[in-house]
Amino acid sequence: MSKTTINTLHQCKQDNRKFAVVTAYDATFSHLASSADIDVILVGDSLGMVFQGQDSTVPVTLEHMCYHTDAVKKGNQGALIMSDLPFMSYATPEQAIESSALLMQAGAEMVKLEGGAWLVDTVAMLSERGIPVCAHLGLTPQYVHKFGGYKVQGRDDAAAKQMIKDAQAMEAAGADVLLLECVPSELAKTLTESVNIPVIGIGAGSDTDGQVLVCYDMLGMNPGHIPKFVKNYMIEGRTIQQAFEVYAQEVKDGSFPGPEHGFKA
Ligand code: KIV
Repeated sequence: MSKTTINTLHQCKQDNRKFAVVTAYDATFSHLASSADIDVILVGDSLGMVFQGQDSTVPVTLEHMCYHTDAVKKGNQGALIMSDLPFMSYATPEQAIESSALLMQAGAEMVKLEGGAWLVDTVAMLSERGIPVCAHLGLTPQYVHKFGGYKVQGRDDAAAKQMIKDAQAMEAAGADVLLLECVPSELAKTLTESVNIPVIGIGAGSDTDGQVLVCYDMLGMNPGHIPKFVKNYMIEGRTIQQAFEVYAQEVKDGSFPGPEHGFKA
């Protein structure tokens, strides 16, 4: 099985080929997903909600993230492993370096952090020290209390322009990948075209370079609210591995997400 690296993702963008990302938090799901043509496994701090039963990602600690990253690494069959820097583990550039070092030593091959222009120095310092970075823009769940809930971002003109500026600032600082969550599909398209680095979307329409879903959502294992951008792949007697395979195939052939999974401005 070939190994997905940061270069694979950049090549996908250049060749206009889509790539598939899914979250996993343990060795078994990591093995199933990475054996099923999934390119990137995100050890997301969404584990706070789907695994720990918390009502947000805020209680997740660096120790939790390292524990789950290590488990995912053990099951991985060649996907690139991206791990979230949890809430307040990157409040200063120095803290971000220390936290990222622990995540990388646990098995991450890229770290993800949430926020825009205020992270320019942090991203530059991480990048210069050999730590690949994904910058998460749009609905950044660690800001839930500041946003007053989980809301689509970038709906008005000023916010949309600011998000494009933030994306370009992150690229200039050395970010390797961007992730856009819950933004209008048109904005995601414009933003994806305005940078040279790959953009992963969730609730961001079909024009980003890659797509990500939380595995518990796409396997129909979420007993709570099902977001509009989710599709349940665990149907028609499929195994979990088949569900991952069909998801990866639909992302790559452009049939997921459909217009019904996106948001308008
Ligand atoms: O933590 C996570 O699972 C995420 C995705 C929702 C993109 O950040």
